[in-house]
Amino acid sequence: MNLNSGYPLAYNEPYDRIFDKRGNLYDLAMKQYPAVRKNEFAALFYNTPLKSTEHIIDLPSGGGYLKNHIPANVTVDSWEISEGFAPSKDINYVNINRISQDIKNKYDRGACLASLHHTEDKVGFISQLATLLKKSGIINIADVAFESGVKDFLEIFVHENNAMGHRGDYLSFEKPLHLSGNIEILRQEMVTVPWNFKDSESCAEYCRLLFGLNGTTESYSIIHALDKYVGIEDLGSKGFNINWELMYIDLLVN
Ligand SMILES: C[S@@+](CC[C@H](N)C(=O)[O-])C[C@H]1O[C@@H](n2cnc3c(N)ncnc32)[C@H](O)[C@@H]1O
Repeated sequence: MNLNSGYPLAYNEPYDRIFDKRGNLYDLAMKQYPAVRKNEFAALFYNTPLKSTEHIIDLPSGGGYLKNHIPANVTVDSWEISEGFAPSKDINYVNINRISQDIKNKYDRGACLASLHHTEDKVGFISQLATLLKKSGIINIADVAFESGVKDFLEIFVHENNAMGHRGDYLSFEKPLHLSGNIEILRQEMVTVPWNFKDSESCAEYCRLLFGLNGTTESYSIIHALDKYVGIEDLGSKGFNINWELMYIDLLVN
C-alpha cells in the first residue's frame, strides 16, 4: 500500500517531502502562537471525552502539538512522517507504509488532525491506524472538508501564494468512507473551531508561517482572503478570530 498522496501534482512532490521543506515554518507558527488552534484540538474529544489513564497515538503529529491540549494525566505518543518539523526526542518518526509490530494493539486512542487531505487512500491510512489500537479503541479525526470555505482558502489563496502550491483530497459527506466491518462511525459532523489572535497582524504572520506563504504576501491580502473564504471576526482590543471549520469524525474500532 502506498499512502503518499502525490499532491500537489503541479509540484510533483508528496506531502511528507513538502513538509520536509516547510515543516520548520509550520512548527515556528505553532510554537510562537501555541493557543491559536486550541478549539480545534479540544473539539476532537467533545463526544468521546478522554479518561485519565488513556494512552493516545497522535499520527501524524507534526511537532507534537496535541500534547499541549490534553490533561496532564493522559499520555500521548507523537508519531510523524516528515522530518521537517523541529527534530525532538519526543517525536517518533515512522514510515507510514511500514509500521513496526511493536506499536500494534498498543493504544487506547488514535488522533489524526489536519492531515487526511494529504492522502488519497484515507481508508488505508485509517486501517493502518486502527491496527495500532487495542480492542474498542477510538479514533478521533478532524480535517478540512470539501464543502467548506477553508478548502477554498487552501486551494485558491494558499495554492497561489505558496511556492509549492496547495492541493489536497478532501473529506466530503458526498464521498462516504468505506471502512472495514470492524470500524464503526460514531460521529461525522462539521464543527466551527475559531482560531483566536490578539490582532489581525498576528493572524497574518501566523498564516504566513503555517501555510508557507511567500514572504512577500501582504498582510492585507491574507486577511482579505480569510474574510472572503473563511470569515473573520474583528473584536478590536478584545482580539481577532477567524471562523476555521473542520469535519470531525469519531470511529470505534472493534
Ligand atoms: C497540516 S500538518 C498537521 C500536523 C498536526 N497533526 C497538526 O494538527 O498540526 C499535515 C501533516 O500531514 C502529514 N502528511 C504528509 N503526507 C501525508 C500522507 N500522505 N498521509 C498522511 N499524512 C501526511 C505531514 O507530515 C504533516 O504532519
